[in-house]
Amino acid sequence: MTRLLLLAMLGLALGVAAALSLQGSLGPFAPPRPLSTGTALIGGPFRLVDHTGKQVTDQDFRGRHMLVYFGFTHCPDVCPTGLNTMTVALNALGQKAERITPLFITLDPERDTPELLAQYVKSFHPRFVGLTGTPENVAQVVKAYKVAAKKVPSEPPGSGYTFDHSSVIYWMDENGQFVAPFTHGSTPEQITARLNEGL
Ligand code: NI
Repeated sequence: MTRLLLLAMLGLALGVAAALSLQGSLGPFAPPRPLSTGTALIGGPFRLVDHTGKQVTDQDFRGRHMLVYFGFTHCPDVCPTGLNTMTVALNALGQKAERITPLFITLDPERDTPELLAQYVKSFHPRFVGLTGTPENVAQVVKAYKVAAKKVPSEPPGSGYTFDHSSVIYWMDENGQFVAPFTHGSTPEQITARLNEGL
């Protein structure tokens, strides 16, 4: 197991622990129920640029559920696994998948241009939306979703950089409210089953 994967799993465990503590006893496979406060503890407003170059905000995604994943296109293994899991789960949902918009938000706006994101997301689900933006706007959404991410130099020195990051799929409802997280260990079958009962 690579160091990156271990770190990703650690970040995931921390992220999910935080998410679960915020949600009380509501685990990823519990029946859906609204947060008691009605406040979005995870998620919130964002202003980003999609993979077609269009300025978008969170409001543009209202009316559909969202599955939100944070990563970067140069990621060797963690992101492709997470995005593939989302794709398989959505395909298995059939028609119901149309009630969901899958989003990939980059942690790496410096390299992930709309053009690069367009290339990348189309190798997964056809309705995937890739999002990038200014470093400030990306940092803001990363914080809002409580994503654990750290930029680290690649080996050998001078060969660029990578990110250690949590691998969590955030399920948000049609009003943009957090419903539940799926972990890097969730199988597509588990995710499909959980979405199927909550949609
Ligand atoms: Ni990644």
